[in-house]
Amino acid sequence: MSQVPTDFVAASGADAVTIVEVGPRDGFQSVSAIIPTAQKISIIEALLAAGITRMEAGSFVSPSALPQMADIRSLLEALRARGSVAHSVLVPNAKGARLAVEAGVGNLVFVLSASEQHNQRNVRRSVAESLDELRMIAAEINSIGHFRFNLATAFDCPFEGRTSLPAAMKIVEQVLECLPESEICLCDTTGRALPRDVAAAFAACRKSFGDRAWAYHAHDTYGLGLASVWAAFQEGVLVFDASVAGLGGCPFAPGATGNVATEDVIYMFESSRISTGINLVVFMESARLVERIDGAVLGGRVRSAFEARVRRSTNLTVPGGC
Ligand code: COA
Ligand code: ZN
Repeated sequence: MSQVPTDFVAASGADAVTIVEVGPRDGFQSVSAIIPTAQKISIIEALLAAGITRMEAGSFVSPSALPQMADIRSLLEALRARGSVAHSVLVPNAKGARLAVEAGVGNLVFVLSASEQHNQRNVRRSVAESLDELRMIAAEINSIGHFRFNLATAFDCPFEGRTSLPAAMKIVEQVLECLPESEICLCDTTGRALPRDVAAAFAACRKSFGDRAWAYHAHDTYGLGLASVWAAFQEGVLVFDASVAGLGGCPFAPGATGNVATEDVIYMFESSRISTGINLVVFMESARLVERIDGAVLGGRVRSAFEARVRRSTNLTVPGGC
């Protein structure tokens, strides 16, 4: 990108970011009625058509804990048939990692929570036990492609309140000891992180662990998702999770609503001349499909602004030109 106004460029000087679409995982898991697999596939196809290059396709979890994820193998087949997206799956334990590898997925996202109570409710393990599972995965599986570590409740826990940054960083340190090449994602599971907390956390992490692959996962419960994404970007983070139409929420984190909406994140960056590689106009088709999911609770602002413009038949480009 040649003509980037300097006032729009983050401290890192970056003019492009990567959005990881987590709607098929974080989004779908929040819907209690089972979404037909064919409906999920048509949404995934629309996401790919818009230029999504990284997607969390689902998770290998206990079907009794999360029945919505039970069709993960069919979704993976559909993705594979449609080409090259670097899809990943979330795994909460070694069993999930083994099943994912058996199903041919090398890109794993391992989740554990910084807070004991959320980790117990989410994956029925203490933090130390989850770290042991992670060490088991690192020792056992040599076909891991891209490895992402998600630190849930990195800022705040629905049961324990604020997470201490040193405690969160201690977990990151232990993860990097066993999987040094990991992409590390700090997750605001409840959506209660303030932009300044997010900036401070990434600044401290970069100071301690260096300029590595950092990622941020925002929920938009209090409307601060985009502000926090921007704060993370200013601290050098270039990978952001987001969910189409703002669908999402952890079934094990009461009160949390959906992820920051992908279309809002695209709009913010593209308007600021920071490339996402995603075509917003085409992307809106996937948001329309998500609107049709029975029982879906949606979020974000760009969707309704966009539809109002469609109704007025005005120019659909955004300032960033996508
Ligand atoms: N995938 C599929 N099945 C799994 C599994 C996995 N990753 N891990 C365990 N199971 C199965 C076991 O085989 C066992 O099956 P069985 O009853 O037929 O023998 C059953 O689930 C219980 O196994 P156990 O090891 O006792 O697990 P658990 O009941 O303690 O549950 C988790 C632990 C992590 C599997 C479960 O809490 C879970 O899936 N949580 C979902 C976490 C999540 O995705 N949260 C939202 C995203 S952050
Ligand atoms: Zn989430």
